[in-house]
Amino acid sequence: MKKSKIIGIGSYLPEQIISNDDLAKILDTSDEWIQSRSGIKARHRAAEGETTSDLAFQAAQAALTHAKRTPDDIDLIIVATTTPDLTFPATAALVQKKLGIRHGAAFDVQAVCSGFVYGLSVASAMVETGQAKCALLIGAETMTRLLDMQDRATAVLFGDGAGAIVLEASEVGREDIDTASHVMGSYLRSDGALSDILYVDGGPSTTGTTGHLRMQGREVYRHAVGNISDAINTLLQRTDMSIEDVDWFVPHQANKRIIDGVAKKIGLPIEKTVVTIHQHANTSAASIPLALCEIVQQGKVKRGDIIMLEAMGGGLTWGANLLRW
Ligand code: ACO
Repeated sequence: MKKSKIIGIGSYLPEQIISNDDLAKILDTSDEWIQSRSGIKARHRAAEGETTSDLAFQAAQAALTHAKRTPDDIDLIIVATTTPDLTFPATAALVQKKLGIRHGAAFDVQAVCSGFVYGLSVASAMVETGQAKCALLIGAETMTRLLDMQDRATAVLFGDGAGAIVLEASEVGREDIDTASHVMGSYLRSDGALSDILYVDGGPSTTGTTGHLRMQGREVYRHAVGNISDAINTLLQRTDMSIEDVDWFVPHQANKRIIDGVAKKIGLPIEKTVVTIHQHANTSAASIPLALCEIVQQGKVKRGDIIMLEAMGGGLTWGANLLRW
């Protein structure tokens, strides 16, 4: 059987760090309010002129080095982003240009904070069906560019960054399926009826402007824990696994309270839960690969570990991926 396997991971964070106290100088807020409501202590912010494709390119290079592959090996680039450099071409095409390759395919996935989960499902399917041999999947965002700095309820919650993985086709015999490293499954959902609780109030075919992020925080919170827990339980059922089999839970870093709520509801101990929101804030589609990269670089993840990824974001979209490292 042809399976898709993660063979490398890398990340990139812009140099500038903005603390909660820095924000309190320009907004009516406080470190205490932000930390107690969200778990966030600081976020990175892209420099003037530094774009999403710049962040994505840096993360891609780090992932390629880790995978011991070169850009020539890549025949598919997917960028999960909600903050593209331009309306078109896709940020993935700009990354392809920066990598100096002219072969293969490149496109973006737009599922907001669930972008990496959606992208992993699509990239894995393309690798498993032979449409790609070696894929780069990048979650990259400059979320700070979408913020209305007059709106303290959203301005404090987001940051910029990028994370990338290299996925490669791997032949797995039936006898090895229970031990081989591969993406075991994905489960994706959306409900467009809830599009008005988390959205950006602009776009090319409406206002002709980029717009700003708008959120009904309490409504988002209300849907998050239930939807995410449901996605995780459904995926565990479909892959014939149980919560006890999961070694690492790598959630989208939206809010520490959502992460804790989900971990409690699905019965996963907090020691197995990866939390990076205090340093990065919510980096939308970049948050999962950034968090995964951190535990890989710290040497915490062992070959054979079972890892659950999950996210919910604007759309609403939500979903989960299960993989054996
Ligand atoms: N600093 C100080 N006070 C603030 C701030 C701030 N940054 N923002 C809002 N407040 C005030 C409000 O004005 C309000 O004051 P009032 O009572 O005088 O009117 C008070 O704090 C409470 O406001 P709420 O919006 O009700 O605050 P809440 O306790 O619900 O917390 C939060 C807001 C953190 C957004 C919460 O709703 C939440 O956790 N929502 C989940 C959504 C989320 O985290 N989204 C992340 C992005 S979406 C995603 O990735 C899935």
